[in-house]
Amino acid sequence: QQAHSQMPSIPLKIAADNLPLLAADALPAGQPHAALYRLPNLSSKKGMVSATLTAEPYEVELLPGKKTTVWAYNQHIPGPLIEAFEGDIVEIRFINKLAQPTTVHWHGLPVPSDQDGNPQDAVPVGGERLYRFSLPKGCAGTYWYHPHPHGDTAEQVYRGLAGLFIVRAKDDVLAHLPEQHLVISDLKLAADGSIPDNTMNDWMNGREGQFVLLNGQRQPLIKVAEAQRWRIWNACSARYLRLALPGRKIILLGSDGGLLEKAQQLDELLLAPGSRAEWLVAGPEAEVDLMAMAYDRHKMGAVAPEQDIKLATIQFIQNTSAQLPERLRSLPPKRIPVAKKRVVFSETMSMEGGQHSMQFLVNGKSYDMQRVDFVSRVGDTELWEIFNDSHMDHPFHMHGMQFEMIDSTLKGKTSPAPWRALIDTFNLLPQQSARILVTQQHKGLRMYHCHILEHEGQGMMGQVLVK
Ligand code: C2O
Ligand code: CU
Ligand code: CU
Repeated sequence: QQAHSQMPSIPLKIAADNLPLLAADALPAGQPHAALYRLPNLSSKKGMVSATLTAEPYEVELLPGKKTTVWAYNQHIPGPLIEAFEGDIVEIRFINKLAQPTTVHWHGLPVPSDQDGNPQDAVPVGGERLYRFSLPKGCAGTYWYHPHPHGDTAEQVYRGLAGLFIVRAKDDVLAHLPEQHLVISDLKLAADGSIPDNTMNDWMNGREGQFVLLNGQRQPLIKVAEAQRWRIWNACSARYLRLALPGRKIILLGSDGGLLEKAQQLDELLLAPGSRAEWLVAGPEAEVDLMAMAYDRHKMGAVAPEQDIKLATIQFIQNTSAQLPERLRSLPPKRIPVAKKRVVFSETMSMEGGQHSMQFLVNGKSYDMQRVDFVSRVGDTELWEIFNDSHMDHPFHMHGMQFEMIDSTLKGKTSPAPWRALIDTFNLLPQQSARILVTQQHKGLRMYHCHILEHEGQGMMGQVLVK
């Protein structure tokens, strides 16, 4: 039967919807902002970054007297920050001490497909492998890494596996600015301190926890004494971050794939799950909140109304300003596409014997590791149209490179992209479509999917074979 063959091949682990949770203010707030742990480079060779990453469960005490078992890279949550320069060779020895197979996927980076942690390349329980790739010129930007095993990505990420990756350019015009790194993640804790499985609602809408953390802390205090460059990651499974600094403008410097051509002044910035941004943070002495404003992503079923969430307090302890160059970077000219592809996201819901049954599909199909959905050629520029033929927002992501959005269309109205930017993830509203220019640089299989990890895990993913 057709419908049956499209069901996810992996049975879902499901927790009760009415599981008692800790109160949303149970974790302490207001502590000084913690810097990310940087992964030490074990190589003394110039142009070489080498390190070991171990994924394993370990126990933490987030609340006095309550033990939480997290799954983490090198016992750090958020995972370690890897820093490298364009031109570097990166060698990561990876050890899997989890009770499940896993992979390490280098979200957004142009690494060869066999080094990119595809679901086909799982590292078995107790196994290890070497990930090795070089960082080409032009790929400076703000990236991250996370597991990508078939069906288990969402669980491995919500239990704590996600780390950060920054690639720097040697000719970065903003290299003089001190940096601040802000990883925003989501955590759900049961009343006993444990991290519960996904509920049915989590599988349907994507998981959101009662805690939205910044570098693992609830509402930390960030002191700003000089003009700074911020890098911000949305590492949540499903939460959209409509970021704002009430009373101030956001000065956007960069996107997923590095600097924009020109800085942009914005009132707010929507960071979809998986996306990153770079900001300039400066201004007069004041205390300002970093907020995630309520955002309606058209969740299904009976869900609580969205609320504004305070992420951090920013204390500007003196007047600061920075002179930005007129041009931050020159992006290569847009190339004329030689082929087209069309991707359609859809979801279907039904009730069968009192049980919800859902399907999250791409071009009418559920992900199949053995199936090639599209074929592309290395170096060809293609125009991909992505259409969200569903009732919910879905963030589209493609592996292996940065692409550029040309325009988007909603209710018959087409709007050009507001500025040029290299991105690997963007949101689509229900019934919205967008056109992007895609150029793959390596041969091999690449995934494209919804970055709500529960949707990806239930099959909202396809793959293109680059020849
Ligand atoms: Cu960030 Cu295929 O993932
Ligand atoms: Cu990715
Ligand atoms: Cu989705």
